[in-house]
Amino acid sequence: MSEKIGYGVIGAGNIGGLHARVIASLPNAKLAAIFDVNQEAAEKFAAQYQCKAYHDMTAFLADSEVQAVTIATPSGLHGKMAIASANAGKHVFCEKPLEITVEKSDEIIKACDDNNVLLSPVFQGRFTRPVQLVKDAMRKGRFGRMVLASAQVRWFREAVYYSSSNWRGTWKMDGGGALMNQSIHAMDMLLYINGAPLEVFAYAGTLTHSIEVEDNLCAVVKYRNGSFGTIEVSTSCAPGFPRRVEFSGSDGTVAFEEDKITRWEFANKLPEDDLIMQELSGTGDVGGGRNPMDIQDLGHRLQLEDFTDAIIHCREPHLNGREGRRAVEFICGIYESARTGKPYRFN
Ligand SMILES: NC(=O)c1ccc[n+]([C@@H]2O[C@H](COP(=O)([O-])OP(=O)(O)OC[C@H]3O[C@@H](n4cnc5c(N)ncnc54)[C@H](O)[C@@H]3O)[C@@H](O)[C@H]2O)c1
Repeated sequence: MSEKIGYGVIGAGNIGGLHARVIASLPNAKLAAIFDVNQEAAEKFAAQYQCKAYHDMTAFLADSEVQAVTIATPSGLHGKMAIASANAGKHVFCEKPLEITVEKSDEIIKACDDNNVLLSPVFQGRFTRPVQLVKDAMRKGRFGRMVLASAQVRWFREAVYYSSSNWRGTWKMDGGGALMNQSIHAMDMLLYINGAPLEVFAYAGTLTHSIEVEDNLCAVVKYRNGSFGTIEVSTSCAPGFPRRVEFSGSDGTVAFEEDKITRWEFANKLPEDDLIMQELSGTGDVGGGRNPMDIQDLGHRLQLEDFTDAIIHCREPHLNGREGRRAVEFICGIYESARTGKPYRFN
């Protein structure tokens, strides 16, 4: 008989709904319950996705049908939710960022280790074919010596995006602005493909919104492999443009616009290169650059498929807590440089 892992979603907002849809689409998973402090939101969600509703965390975590949770609450609450879930013996699939500080991220990792439950922080982009192809090209040494790894996220958020929410744009619950919230996927891509940073220098400012956190930030990075990069991120660039991430080495360059590959050029050309461009080249859809609700299901489906399979086969998920922590450490270092006006060196 095939086993189905029972999931409970924590947080009945935008991304919680996407989690529910994706869980329902997996052959080896089922949606057992929703927990949200807002009882009305929990009940509406439960009616829509056909599961049990809880507005009390203790009762939710006592439900034996919930073997794993997905965390989709404001970012500054991820630690509280993840640690309570791990202590209740539930596996944890946690939205980005894992938490808003390195210390809290470490507490989550420790709680999951101590309770022998699996942890996978969400970076759904890593599971998509274009990112896997560039990772493979890097593993094979096709870039030669890496020289530049850069990201540009010129997005746009209307004033109401922040004013209609009690947590977005706050240090306490969002943990930052254009960088921590909107650009963390691009930061993860830089680290996943090009490796760890050594030093960073940044400027940050709040230029067009009435929020505590930055809506614009620029940084220069030196990576441990000796390469350099620039980071430009914003939620002020009307009308919003596709995210760009680019990697260059002495033997090749790859550039992404959202999930499209706009440049795939290597000194040592392989027969598959033309096929890759035929399949994946194009102009990236602006997507989340203009509309915060515009998130495709595919990446989450691939990551949840892997996580569910990892639970069933008692193995580590492809993206574990330590991997998810890296982008939090990078971003907090960039903020520290912007705050002090000095370069920040990573340990
Ligand atoms: N992976 C991605 O691409 C992606 C995209 C969007 C959002 N996110 C992340 O998902 C998280 C949620 O974002 P969202 O846009 O869905 O937010 P949202 O505001 O739409 O939803 C948050 C939900 O959490 C609930 N909540 C608040 N406090 C709670 C508590 N103490 N206990 C239980 N529930 C509580 C709220 O009632 C709300 O229903 C954030 O961490 C965000 O960074 C990830």
